[in-house]
Order: sequence, then structure tokens, then C-alpha cells
Amino acid sequence: MTGRFITFEGIDGAGKSTHIDALADRMRRRGQHVICTREPGGTPLAEALREQVLHAAMDPLTEALLVFAARRDHIQQVIAPALAQGHTVLCDRFTDATFAYQGAGRGFDTEVLVTLEAWVQEGLQPALTFWFDLPPETAAERRAAARSPDRFEQLDTAFFTRVRQGYEARVKQSPQRFARLDAAQSREQVWAQLVAHMEQRGW
Ligand code: TYD
Repeated sequence: MTGRFITFEGIDGAGKSTHIDALADRMRRRGQHVICTREPGGTPLAEALREQVLHAAMDPLTEALLVFAARRDHIQQVIAPALAQGHTVLCDRFTDATFAYQGAGRGFDTEVLVTLEAWVQEGLQPALTFWFDLPPETAAERRAAARSPDRFEQLDTAFFTRVRQGYEARVKQSPQRFARLDAAQSREQVWAQLVAHMEQRGW
């Protein structure tokens, strides 16, 4: 018995967080055991690494290694044990974010990321990934309302345009794993799209 691993992706300001909580509620009401977690983070060690990745200056290789170190700990301590018990795991960002932010955004060597992904995940992949897609300009307007931006949120529209292209490239590689949501729509409309994808799968 293995549980469902569902991840949530998109550029900063796409509005995924409220939908993760709402989906967890929906699944729990249907009797499923659901764990909500996030990356980088999800364990004490990975949360400590998150703090550094989001706020300390570092070179792209260091950034990529820290993100994958955090991921390794998270998988071993939280994700794999939960899935083995048949629980659903909802994770706010996962490896697609590394390809999008460190790869496409920062311009870090994607081949190295492919190798790290294989080492760290040993074949583990999400069963479904919701991609909250919207124009970088719209996301920037939404972020402007948010408090104290982290290292990534301070970056410009050109960076987020590359990040978005990075996500697009990941979708092309594994189209069956992704569900694209038009995140420029209202919160209610985005939620309706998300539920429709779940129902399509009988989840
Ligand atoms: P985010 O998930 O948007 O959390 P919050 O809503 O608290 O801001 O922030 C995490 C940031 O980390 C986001 O800017 C993307 C970045 N990130 C990477 O650069 N690489 C990764 O592999 C992951 C998981 C996140």
C-alpha cells in the first residue's frame, strides 16, 4: 500500500498555499489521512537549511546542494514513511521548483540537477503536480501586497519569466504528471479547476 504524493508548483505569487489547505480539508472529510508539508523544509534540519537558502547569499552550486540536502532529509524522515503507511502527502513545492528556480532561473547546469534528483529521490516522483501558472507580471502585482520578500521574491520579472519557462519544460518532459491551473483567475475559479482535476482521477 502506498499513498498519493501530490505537489504544488508555480512562481512566487501564484497563490497555491490556500488551495493546499483547502484540498487537505476536502480529502480529510473523505476519510483520508493527509499530511501537508513544504520544501525547502518539512523537518527540523530541512527548515534550518530553508532559512539559509531563502536569506543567505551563496553561489548557485551551494544553493542547489542545500535544496537537495533538505529534500533528502525530508523524503527520509517524512515523505517516504507517510507514503509507506498509505497516507496522502501534499507538498508545497518539490523538485520541479529546483529545475525552475536553480535551473532555468539561476541558469544552473540542468544535467547536474538530473543527477542529484536521481541520487536523492531514488525513483520517487509525485503522482500528480498542480502547476499554478500565471503571467509573471500578475504574480508581481500580487507579491507587491505581501510583506518582506525573501531572496527569490526580490528578483525581477525576467527571472520569473525564466522560472515559468523552466516549469513549462518540466511539463513537456512528463505531461501526464502535471495538471496546469490558470492561476490568473479568481481564487474560486482556480479551486474549481483543481477539484475538476481531482474528480477526473476519481480522487
Ligand atoms: P514559497 O514556497 O513560495 O513559500 P512562501 O509562500 O513562504 O514564500 O517559497 C519558497 C522559495 O524557495 C520560493 O521562492 C522558491 C524557492 N525554491 C527554490 O529556489 N528551489 C527549490 O527547490 C524550492 C523547493 C524552492
